[in-house]
Amino acid sequence: MNNIEIFENERAAGYNQFVETWIPNYHNFLDCLPQLLRKNTKPRDLLVVGCGTGNEIERFAKAPEKWMITGIDPSPAMIKQANEKLQNSDSVTLIEGLVSDLEVDKKYSAATLLLVLHFLEDNGNKLNLLKDISDRLLSGATFVMLDITGDKKQIKQNLNVLRLLLPDGLDEEMINFRMNRIENELFAISEQRLSELLQEAGFEAPIRFFQSSVYVGWITKKK
Ligand SMILES: C[S@@+](CC[C@H](N)C(=O)[O-])C[C@H]1O[C@@H](n2cnc3c(N)ncnc32)[C@H](O)[C@@H]1O
Repeated sequence: MNNIEIFENERAAGYNQFVETWIPNYHNFLDCLPQLLRKNTKPRDLLVVGCGTGNEIERFAKAPEKWMITGIDPSPAMIKQANEKLQNSDSVTLIEGLVSDLEVDKKYSAATLLLVLHFLEDNGNKLNLLKDISDRLLSGATFVMLDITGDKKQIKQNLNVLRLLLPDGLDEEMINFRMNRIENELFAISEQRLSELLQEAGFEAPIRFFQSSVYVGWITKKK
């Protein structure tokens, strides 16, 4: 299916090392999430879409405020790792599947979508995912995203910045492969297009609050 990017085998096993290497300041971004959401998100009932190995869930599970967290992801190997990481947390429910599998009657007061949307084509797939999330949120719910964002020129320029921020000693061929993949194989969209899609899905125009090279953090609310 072209609206799911499955992470399995080595890609899943090496995921945490991968983000560490290739997404500068990713952990700073994750660390600020519970604080960002705690004030206007009550009850603290969070939907984590594309939760992967549970990196963002871990931050909420350890936050001083009590969060009830539902993490959902279509990749069995990623959910398995999340289960291992979060097995002692009674406030976390993990589901292998898609947001569209969740009942629409249950509404969440906040949601996150980190590093997922750029895998989906802008042919209706991005919009459908955003709508599926929006349908499961209360009016006024906060929605936070991290995604590769920018027009062609911005992506090119910020890939040069990313290159400067990478750890020493990486294989040059691997760097070029990854840069080419981001530039030509993933489905980054401009800030304007993202704003259009979010508003069409029932959100307010998003606010850019974080950026580390091509990776941009957005916050918005369900209307
Ligand atoms: C790059 S990982 C991000 C994981 C996690 N959010 C993080 O920041 O560490 C992308 C995840 O999105 C999941 N995914 C792929 N297609 C999806 C879809 N259509 N809906 C929800 N999640 C999806 C993949 O299985 C994978 O675990």
